[in-house]
Amino acid sequence: AGAKSQGVLTVKTETAVRSNGSVIYRMDDRIAVLEISNPPVNASSLAVRMGLVDGLARAGADCAAGVVLIGAGKCFVAGSDLREFELPLSKPELPDVIAAIEAAEFPVVAALHGVALGGGLELALGCDYRIAKPDAQLGLPEASLGMVPGAGGTQRLPRLIGKSRSIGMICQATRIPAAEALPFGLVDALAEGDLLDAALTFLRDTPRTKRRARDLTPPPEPTETVQAAADQVLRRGRGRPNVAEAIRLVQGADGDASAMLADERAVFQTLRVGPEATALRALFFAERRAAMVDSIDLKSARPVRRVGVIGGGTMGQGIARAVLAAGLPVTLLERDADALKRAVDAIGTHLQGQLAKGRIDAGQADARRAALTGVFDTAGLADCDLVIEAVFEDMGVKREVLAGLERTLPAEAVIASNTSYLDIDEMSAALDHPDRVIGLHFFSPADVMPLLEVVRARSTAPDVLAAGLALARRLSKQPVVAKVSEGFIGNRIYAAYRRRAELLALDGATPQAVDAAVTGFGFAMGPFAVADMSGLDIAWAMRKRQAATRDPGLRYVTIPDRLCEAGRLGRKTGAGWYDYATGKPQPDPAVAEIIETERRAAGVTSRDFPGEEIQRQLMAAIVNEAACLIDEGVAQRPSDVDVTMCNGYGFPRWTGGPLYWAARQDRGRLRADLTQLAQASGPAHRAGPVGAVLGRLMSATEE
Ligand code: NAI
Repeated sequence: AGAKSQGVLTVKTETAVRSNGSVIYRMDDRIAVLEISNPPVNASSLAVRMGLVDGLARAGADCAAGVVLIGAGKCFVAGSDLREFELPLSKPELPDVIAAIEAAEFPVVAALHGVALGGGLELALGCDYRIAKPDAQLGLPEASLGMVPGAGGTQRLPRLIGKSRSIGMICQATRIPAAEALPFGLVDALAEGDLLDAALTFLRDTPRTKRRARDLTPPPEPTETVQAAADQVLRRGRGRPNVAEAIRLVQGADGDASAMLADERAVFQTLRVGPEATALRALFFAERRAAMVDSIDLKSARPVRRVGVIGGGTMGQGIARAVLAAGLPVTLLERDADALKRAVDAIGTHLQGQLAKGRIDAGQADARRAALTGVFDTAGLADCDLVIEAVFEDMGVKREVLAGLERTLPAEAVIASNTSYLDIDEMSAALDHPDRVIGLHFFSPADVMPLLEVVRARSTAPDVLAAGLALARRLSKQPVVAKVSEGFIGNRIYAAYRRRAELLALDGATPQAVDAAVTGFGFAMGPFAVADMSGLDIAWAMRKRQAATRDPGLRYVTIPDRLCEAGRLGRKTGAGWYDYATGKPQPDPAVAEIIETERRAAGVTSRDFPGEEIQRQLMAAIVNEAACLIDEGVAQRPSDVDVTMCNGYGFPRWTGGPLYWAARQDRGRLRADLTQLAQASGPAHRAGPVGAVLGRLMSATEE
């Protein structure tokens, strides 16, 4: 690696410009400018690091009075090149570059725009000063990748901005805009106009001395404040080892700088090649792959300038909020004036809440309010390029809505359905142009949840699929492409998981034991707590619909039917699998009685299930269903299942997702789990080709 980056090549222009391909060196009246140019996001690769070390040496030789580090293109440096993290790192490493900056006799200013993240921000923290565009985003996301910052982030950041703030920023991987970071000293100045001019002026107008962050002492703050920040992130970090390490390192930031920097580097190196960071990197790459479909060029996407949303219920409102937040105008259609007013008012109230919490400013709230138009006639959607229907989950209603849209919309406008389960091909069959129809399955709340299942129906045109993917990008959503199938990828796998959980309850595990095993695995909530939260009635209605066609070869669990019949629909009725009289879920003897009755009726002899067995059976159910749907081509690739489950269903990210996790389990043990799953499910159980799918996941060529 880096052959082309070894030599510094000189390009002849009026001023001497040198470049190793990734860092361009230029002298501007005694100030050396080092411009990092490694498209698309100036990742700090080996070539960049070499270019920086060369450039700093060159600036010394040229007797520069100061140096400006700046990024070419859209940002400063978005982070390290994660592909390098799988192998031993090559010299110079980032700490070597920073050591060269600190050792230089001249002051070095980092000029930040776009993003300065991870190694990018650490590089900037290693400089003497930081000047930034007000909207530049600064952050240290290493914790979200199972690591700690490894180039001084845990040491230089607290010395500049204090320990408690640093703990929050590092452990929660928060990004903050430079304008917000100015008051507490993370940046020294904001640049309203041209960034490079501002940085040059910053160095020229006032004599600047060296000011190494490592030599500073963290601003004083009460120990309790620091401890409170630590306690808070530990709770949220769900006990991940890297979070605890990050806290320890930040807390030590008033100690000897060299010793602490060495400590940090050693922790970073261990975590970098550890199982969690390796899994999280795999997931990171899987997420990027999931946004791509072979043969589909995003540039071919039909353009979308205004989005229509039909139905202003839970999902319609959420989708409208998400689209407005992305800066696109929305036309919202409801059935009548009253329903429309309710929906528009609710969106307004939500904006007000966001404003009160400081999540958006008054200008943004006004702009979003102004960009929302409400109508109660399909004709009002005529100027939309893409319309998403989020009306009742009913084939008849949806077909009627689509027919109305076809009559109203211009021919090239895209029609999308947010259906959870329905067959989109059947929905669009009666249209003249079913090729303009796509599924866009959002998750609730749609403006918060990152996942978007983009459903490619049999007839969906390539430029319509591209429009769906482009919209996902515009909304900062993680897309996963699915084919039509009952529940697409996520809900289909979730249904298999919930079925297994209910069977476990029937066979002897208490709901709280199942939920505890699942949270013990790393989910935020177990399946029964989730069912109570979303309401038991939707699944009940579905079971009643499917009663006639139910396969008698699959064991059926009657417990949730009895709960619903008893009016226990979940949290909203104060009781479901749990009792909510106290506000918190409590095990309920009435539920235990229902379970016992149903067990007797089913002739089940109950037995104990250790927590680990519960976990492994639920994983087996997920993995088996995933294998079935990959076999059917519902998901493009095994890693898309991992992306779906981690972004939409709370599957713990640090495992890499269910299939990544399964591929690292003992095969004999996994086979035994799958056999047990088959036995528990009934004779009609369908076993997916798990071995083949995991093989595909593991083979580098396929992925
Ligand atoms: P909801 O019942 O809260 O909202 C549906 C809204 O559509 C109602 O406000 C109703 O007045 C309106 N509506 C019905 N027919 C209409 C028509 N012909 N024209 C205009 N408006 C009409 O339902 P929800 O939960 O928002 O679900 C909507 C769709 O989203 C369903 O297909 C559902 O399966 C799907 N979905 C729901 C999720 C959830 O968590 N609730 C998650 C993902 C998808």
